[in-house]
Amino acid sequence: MDRRKIVAGNWKMNLDRAKARELAAAVAARAGEAAATELVLCPPAPYLDTVATALGSAGGSSPSGVALGAQNMHDKASGAFTGEVAAPMLLDVGCRYVILGHSERRTLFGETDKIVNAKAKAALAAGLMPIVCVGETLEEREGGRTEAVVTTQVNGSLAGLTASDLEKTVVAYEPVWAIGTGKVATPQQAQDVHALIRALLGKLASPTLAARVRIQYGGSVKPDNAADLASQPDIDGALVGGASLKADDFLGIAAAFGRHPA
Ligand code: 13P
Repeated sequence: MDRRKIVAGNWKMNLDRAKARELAAAVAARAGEAAATELVLCPPAPYLDTVATALGSAGGSSPSGVALGAQNMHDKASGAFTGEVAAPMLLDVGCRYVILGHSERRTLFGETDKIVNAKAKAALAAGLMPIVCVGETLEEREGGRTEAVVTTQVNGSLAGLTASDLEKTVVAYEPVWAIGTGKVATPQQAQDVHALIRALLGKLASPTLAARVRIQYGGSVKPDNAADLASQPDIDGALVGGASLKADDFLGIAAAFGRHPA
């Protein structure tokens, strides 16, 4: 089981160019504080190039060791899709990762498992590693439907991916009720769903392969709750929203995960 912890910052639609450059430079300069953890920054699309330069990742590999990721992409490689961004373009500006199927995309922009699946295949075909998000709403959890909802999302979003595709894929479990609310899942609640996701990956490919796939938790992760989450056997990192906008907090979370090697 060689799952290096991975902590990604989803900046969402925040910051301006100067602040994006400043934050990326601060994380790059201090990445050594969380050297055991793989770090990924996912800025808004217009700032990908600026952040790539700040990370030194413009050519694809980053001397700072901090990887670049995008927050979304289209499933077609080019064409008449006004306003959209294609996987080869993301690769071209230095991205290694792309977040797909975030709950905000699913809820606010109508992304279905089928769309997320098409995007995941396109990302992998282009050479990007997808971070595929799943997670239940509060109503679904309270209705006892967490397992069913997450199972449908995982099976639908990852349908048809080969074992080699899955090995390059990161799954992010983000309970919708924990996103931006300050209400973090308990380590046990998160661990239970992570174990379920790993079992589903085992059925999609094999248990050996599933043991190699990294599963992040997302939803109100902060430096003061990261250690408890990191101590769980199936939590391999975090997808961080609000706290990723401060270098201290982001690196504090990443360092907490680095103290719990797989
Ligand atoms: P918060 O960390 O702000 O709750 O956001 C989580 C998230 O949506 C990351 O993708």
